[in-house]
Amino acid sequence: MQKILQILKSHETDFVSGEFLAKNLGISRTAVWKKIKKLREQGYKIDSFTNKGYRLTDFSEKIFPNELIAQLPTKFIGKNIYYEYEIDSTNVLARQLAQQGALDGSLVLAEIQTAGRGRLGRVWVSDAGKGLWSTLILRPQIAPSELAGITIVTAVAMARAIQAVAGITVEVKWPNDLLYKGKKLAGILAELNGEMDRVKYLLCGIGVNINHNADDFPEELQKIATSLQMITDKQLNRQQLLQAYLTFFEQGYEQLLVGNMKTTIDYAREYSATLGKRVTISCGGNRQIVGTAVALDDDGSLWLEDENGEKRRLYSGEIIQ
Ligand code: BTN
Repeated sequence: MQKILQILKSHETDFVSGEFLAKNLGISRTAVWKKIKKLREQGYKIDSFTNKGYRLTDFSEKIFPNELIAQLPTKFIGKNIYYEYEIDSTNVLARQLAQQGALDGSLVLAEIQTAGRGRLGRVWVSDAGKGLWSTLILRPQIAPSELAGITIVTAVAMARAIQAVAGITVEVKWPNDLLYKGKKLAGILAELNGEMDRVKYLLCGIGVNINHNADDFPEELQKIATSLQMITDKQLNRQQLLQAYLTFFEQGYEQLLVGNMKTTIDYAREYSATLGKRVTISCGGNRQIVGTAVALDDDGSLWLEDENGEKRRLYSGEIIQ
């Protein structure tokens, strides 16, 4: 499939005849047509006209999974991609695939999520071509208690990718979100399946708002959400961003697996939107803790100091104020 896409892509907006494709691929014109049909089923928009041939449309918007895999410098992260044009949620599909034995590091990617999920039962708006909606399937061979830092690894990997590709510095709101000037740019949904001492699989979903204009967001989100396009005034190449993210993710994740998050935490401290602030953190159920975020520990946990100067260490939670 890779070769036919490469040819179509290299001809940009020009048509490529079925004959030319058949010759280059060493297959019949019927076989070419079957490949085109398969690509369309995967969501590629390809025009075809008698006597003209085939033409890829809207490809500046597209992510090309095979091309991405070929260019990825990673060892295992993102080396298997399950790409769907439209699904309910990449986390939901990732769970099914993980249960069926998907390989460690597999990536589930969709252009549209019809039921994108946020934390605390919220909905994640996921329109076509606007953002990056993805979930990594991981099979870490360490205890669940050592994985609390996974959301920081994810947030830092995306913050570094955004810095590298879009040239802007975003903030990490401990432990799950990326912000720009206080507005939400990306959110992370990590889900674990396993027993007390053994992880079966870990799903790491991230949604990044990329090519939205303000009015692409529902009204209730317009004051609190932003996108890379709104910040930089430019359309961003999502594939480039994804490639950088997966590369940085693997670096951080491999360090997490050997119990050394120093580099990741140094970035998280540098990018932190939380340190020094007075926050209210929901720790599940009705439990809330209020205090000033005074330090980020080397394992990703957050130290809160209350008004009596007493310090508490939190490994996970949701900042609600
Ligand atoms: C949040 O901030 O509440 C978390 C948002 C997580 C959204 C991503 S988009 C890809 C993956 N699939 C989902 O259904 N959710 C996550």
